[in-house]
Amino acid sequence: MRALCTQTLAATPEGIAQAARLLSAGALVALPTETVYGLAGDARNPDAVAGIFAAKGRPQHNPLIVHLADLDQALALAEIPAQGLALARAFWPGPLTLVAPLRAGHGLAPAVTAGLDSVALRLPAHPAARALLNAFGGPIAAPSANPSGRISPTTAAHVLAGLDGRIAAVLDGGACAVGLESSIVGFDGVTALLLREGGISRDALEAVLGARLGRDGSGKITAPGQLAAHYAPRAALRLDARAPEPQEVWIGFGPDCKGAELSLSLTGDLEEAAARLFAVLHAADAKGRAIAVAPVPERGLGTAINDRLRRAAAPKGA
Ligand code: TXA
Ligand code: MG
Repeated sequence: MRALCTQTLAATPEGIAQAARLLSAGALVALPTETVYGLAGDARNPDAVAGIFAAKGRPQHNPLIVHLADLDQALALAEIPAQGLALARAFWPGPLTLVAPLRAGHGLAPAVTAGLDSVALRLPAHPAARALLNAFGGPIAAPSANPSGRISPTTAAHVLAGLDGRIAAVLDGGACAVGLESSIVGFDGVTALLLREGGISRDALEAVLGARLGRDGSGKITAPGQLAAHYAPRAALRLDARAPEPQEVWIGFGPDCKGAELSLSLTGDLEEAAARLFAVLHAADAKGRAIAVAPVPERGLGTAINDRLRRAAAPKGA
């Protein structure tokens, strides 16, 4: 389906004003955030929200994150527990999503939350996202701007590679600095649970809470979009590869991976590896050969990187 001519808008005042007009008219616009590009629509408009699910081929049971300009807008939609407010004060705007109980009269289209009584909220830090949220003035629903199950986009070119002709516009804000989706924290009563590893390390979240985060999946609440197979290149992907097999594209990490065709970080820097992860996977996939990835240490952002790599390696259709 290529029904639309997708415009590329510059992240200038004019481009942002045009993006806000498109959102107000119910159209879909890909917007840059510091994590990945999001596929944005008016979260109050049922047709716009239905369009997001259709453009991505996303299952209806997988709820969307609502992006907001400020904490007051978030508090109008949900009852955020005290621990959530502490995290919000420390990390908003930034790569943190909080899942909290919806307030009555929230005004969101029901499909945004997939019928749950909770909502996922985030205040992004990217200046173009903030400018668009301010210009638009309302809640913006935005999943990552990739066809469902594929690699997340960290440039406008990645967005167009997956969604050209399916959305009205992409606002080009350059490459995403964090490169991994937001960390998602939910609550079982007052206990904070890490529902998705992401752009803020578990250690940094726990330092603010002064307590350990519950494990994803151990409680009743989980992020329903956490499918085993996700972030998937077309090619097969092999993990913990200390050397490539013949024909494989080897993605290295650190200075020991001599001869790797691509590298997440030549110096072994986990923040750099996070920022480059999806771009390197897109580049490896474009070569049309099987992919092998060197081991990435399971500390700091390494746990979120390994989470994405395991899902990218999972058998398709799982
Ligand atoms: O960094 C990000 O979070 C990016 C940018 C665009 O903001 N967005 C993103 O959205 O990663 P998406 O749709 O790809 O992932 C959203 C995740 C899904 O796993 C979904 O199931 C979960 O958030 N989620 C949304 N609402 C939820 C809720 N009420 N309860 C539990 N999980 C929820
Ligand atoms: Mg996604």
